[in-house]
Amino acid sequence: MKFNFKKGGELQIILVKKDEDSLKIGNDLYLYLKEKEMFKGDLSETYLHLDPNGEDVLLLGLGEEDKLTIDSIRRAFYSAGRKLMEAKVKSIGVSIPKFKDLCYKKTIGAVTEGLLQSEYSFEKYLSEKKIKPTLEEVYLDVLEDKKDKALEAIEESKILIEGIFLTRDLVNERAINMYPEVLANSAKDNLEQLGVKVSIYGKKDIEALDMKAFLAVSQGSAKEPQFIVMEYNGDPSSDEKLAFVGKGLTYDSGGYSLKPSKGMDTMFSDMAGSATVIGAIKAIAKSKLKRNVVGIVAACENLVSGDAYKPGDIIGSMSGKTIEVDNTDAEGRLTLADALWYAVKEAKADKVIDLATLTGACVVALGDINTGAITNDEKLMREVKDASEIAGEPIWQLPSNDEYRDLIKSDFADLKNTGVRGAGTITAGLFLREFVDDTPWVHLDIAGTAYLDKALGYLPKGATGVHVKTLYYLAKGE
Ligand code: BES
Ligand code: MN
Ligand code: ZN
Repeated sequence: MKFNFKKGGELQIILVKKDEDSLKIGNDLYLYLKEKEMFKGDLSETYLHLDPNGEDVLLLGLGEEDKLTIDSIRRAFYSAGRKLMEAKVKSIGVSIPKFKDLCYKKTIGAVTEGLLQSEYSFEKYLSEKKIKPTLEEVYLDVLEDKKDKALEAIEESKILIEGIFLTRDLVNERAINMYPEVLANSAKDNLEQLGVKVSIYGKKDIEALDMKAFLAVSQGSAKEPQFIVMEYNGDPSSDEKLAFVGKGLTYDSGGYSLKPSKGMDTMFSDMAGSATVIGAIKAIAKSKLKRNVVGIVAACENLVSGDAYKPGDIIGSMSGKTIEVDNTDAEGRLTLADALWYAVKEAKADKVIDLATLTGACVVALGDINTGAITNDEKLMREVKDASEIAGEPIWQLPSNDEYRDLIKSDFADLKNTGVRGAGTITAGLFLREFVDDTPWVHLDIAGTAYLDKALGYLPKGATGVHVKTLYYLAKGE
């Protein structure tokens, strides 16, 4: 898809706010449709009008003016993109006005992103493809004095989309083909060419690092665990470093605390946190952001075998803290315990964000709309929230009063890996907090948002790639 700043295109997109009285172009058609109640201008509503004697148009609804946001523009242009694909349209023209409360540059970025979002599919295993992108040329009529900004916005959106699509592809890939070594290699293949240093540690190295908790989880799998460290130094003049730590369970059967079949079928997506980190670092490195970022992933499978760890086991960790394994299905926090400790003590990060498909409880609490968050630093939380708002990837912070901490006390070890039935997302977060010391840290539980049963706006069914943008904007400092 190519973007140009001139008039053109075989079809024109006409933007319509809800219940608008009249339009500058396409007014007759619009009034006719309005009278027939065929088009109201609701957000993402489309009406395709093909005219053999005149010009083809697509009316695109933006909803009520007061409610218009950057994310609704993404959504509207996503549906436009899908509609255009159905009609095999190759080129479009659209004039982008300045909407009153919205930044013009961000508006252009959202138009670009929405159109590009419409081209995603994971159809490598389908003999007959359903999504066949057709749109080649986009002619944007933009405000004359904003062309430079518009160009920057388009480039940024293209880069973000590359990161998001990479994340989705990694998550959607099934565990038979996506195991720790494959994940590690794809980090290398995608990032090294952008100047990111990717170090991969195998079982021997992980033993040498004393990552006992991570190793315990990986024990039941025939596949070698991999510890992946991705270093992007965009600001050599600074010694500040931001760490992104992603849960990397390439499959989670639950282990001996076995999941029921229904809970297991999508557990190839339990490495979504790690894929988000890889996608975000790709976008950050490609944009050459002035920031030092380290990505950290402890990748393994949680399976059942004669070698697997067992409920009741008491295990160690890199931090020295001992953990009683109440439930082998609470494995993510064990792998993250060592990854977080590494982030703070070895990588010496001074801010840490972790992303993990950590708890079913988070899905119960927030569904697939909001990511759950726990923090030990309100300032960093604010920064992450601001970035997520720009990204259109909502986050909801959960409380973490000290009282909850009592729930993960063990009589026989320093900690146990589960709490009680209630507040499962919070106790999981507080378990992680034990492994970051006092380093500012935000934990994002993406169990509900990383993988969808059903498409939601421009987020497709399956992997969403949610928070690639959040991490990017956080690193950018927006
Ligand atoms: N990977 C799961 C969490 C999950 C559930 C992600 C549903 C996506 C959708 C995690 O490892 C897990 O099994 N958590 C347990 C923790 C419990 C045993 C304390 C859970 O939520 O049931
Ligand atoms: Mn589990
Ligand atoms: Zn898991």
